[in-house]
Amino acid sequence: MLKDKKLTQKIQELSKKYLATGQDIYSFLDGLLYSDYMGYWDYIHLDTLLTLQTPKTDFPDENIFILYHQITELYFKLCLLEIEQINKNGKKIAENGQDLGWNHKLKVDLFIKKMKRINRYLKQLINSFNIMTEGMDKDQFLKFRMSLLPSSGFQSVQYRMIELRSTSLENLHHNQTEETKSIETVFNQLYWQMGANDLDSGEKTYTLKQFEKKYKKRLLKLANRMQNLNLLSKYNSLAEEDKKNKELISLIKEYDLNINVNWKLAHYKSAVKYLHMKKNDIAATGGTNWQQYLPPKFQKIIFFPKLWTNKEKENWGKKWVESILEK
Ligand code: HEM
Repeated sequence: MLKDKKLTQKIQELSKKYLATGQDIYSFLDGLLYSDYMGYWDYIHLDTLLTLQTPKTDFPDENIFILYHQITELYFKLCLLEIEQINKNGKKIAENGQDLGWNHKLKVDLFIKKMKRINRYLKQLINSFNIMTEGMDKDQFLKFRMSLLPSSGFQSVQYRMIELRSTSLENLHHNQTEETKSIETVFNQLYWQMGANDLDSGEKTYTLKQFEKKYKKRLLKLANRMQNLNLLSKYNSLAEEDKKNKELISLIKEYDLNINVNWKLAHYKSAVKYLHMKKNDIAATGGTNWQQYLPPKFQKIIFFPKLWTNKEKENWGKKWVESILEK
């Protein structure tokens, strides 16, 4: 019998745990005895992580381009982890996605906590975008980008997931009419689908066709599932007094600006820096009319339109775009 009481108790707890699933604790103890210690490199898969950059050319700055896209995708994943928790909160959802009705009231504290985290992540992205705008040799960029065609950051599925999980479909397109349309019809009119038409023919660009081939089914399913669970619906489902919570409103508005104006603008700056030329602009990777498409003042995507005044909506993204173009 072990003298150490705490140890005895732990072993009894472990034994209970394994017995409950009909398994034998002795085999697991043997496993512990023979297994190696966990290393940092194993835990975060460092060696694998560092092999995930496979440039298509020998230009060293292509690595910066790849790494920063990967870093951004990881931050998008961090945002999605938080958004998903708000989407799920308050509703019982079965494994198969079936809606089992209300579980408990969405807690405004949780909403606030998660919105703070999301804004923190987005601010990191906004503040670090100069790694792209300032941090690459333009000559190298203009050469290595030719070997990446027709791929484009436009094909970031996580970015579209953030949108679909944040607001209702009607806020992601501008063809708003009274008639009821199927989700697929609305989906086909989303602002980014309109932005990915070929400059000459007006047809869908190959970049968009390829993206749809890979992700359309998944995104449509998500759009369907998020109809009543997106952040906007979640906000609308709060009790009247919670809806007036000043801290929450301010965080949600900050989010709207961060994602739909500030990030888009930091990104747009890099397109201006690398693709804008006095005489004629260099064609975008996706073949889009990026000057008309990318500026937030033209896109006018607002996730929470009711939280803004008409004047603020009219001037959406204007001040910042103008300040960049004047430089
Ligand atoms: C030098 C750096 C960059 C340049 C010149 C650039 C250029 C462009 C252009 C021209 C477009 C329009 C679509 C097209 O024709 O391809 C676009 C879209 C997009 N890019 Fe980038 N990009 C850069 C970096 C990034 C990074 C680091 C990300 C991070 C994932 C990113 C994500 C996106 C997204 C999500 C869109 C769609 C935006 C929207 O629909 O409003 N880009 N980019």
